[in-house]
Amino acid sequence: MKLLILNGVNLNRTGLREPGVYGTQTLEDINREIAAFAKKRGIDCEFFQSNLEGELCTKIHETDADGIVLNAGAFTHYSYALRDAIASVPTPVVEVHMSNVHAREEFRHTSVISAVCRGTVLGFGKNSYLLAVESFAL
Ligand code: DQA
Repeated sequence: MKLLILNGVNLNRTGLREPGVYGTQTLEDINREIAAFAKKRGIDCEFFQSNLEGELCTKIHETDADGIVLNAGAFTHYSYALRDAIASVPTPVVEVHMSNVHAREEFRHTSVISAVCRGTVLGFGKNSYLLAVESFAL
């Protein structure tokens, strides 16, 4: 099985931005842990990050992965384009957030992508990604 670990806008700043919220590990560090965790479950991972909404949509359209673990960042809260891209493919998508978005500002309480995702994992820091990967191994 192959998973696409897809990160959206500002996730390239992980480890540098708001460490109290997102921790001090970089996205590269986290991706390394995800790859090792997935490998133990016989899952291969491809990693892609972009700050551009259209690039994320195209990646969703074109991936040959069996599933997608998606942290869309702030696009989660307002990108109908991303929502429609997810709905346009049969590939299952699990939505991920490191922080507990429901315990934060009100604009973060809305996800326009949740309804077209298989499920959501949030609030467990980098472990949110691992739990999402695990969901594909069950
Ligand atoms: C985030 C939560 C979003 O509200 C925020 O815009 C992010 C990161 C998270 O992982 O907790 O960029 O998706």
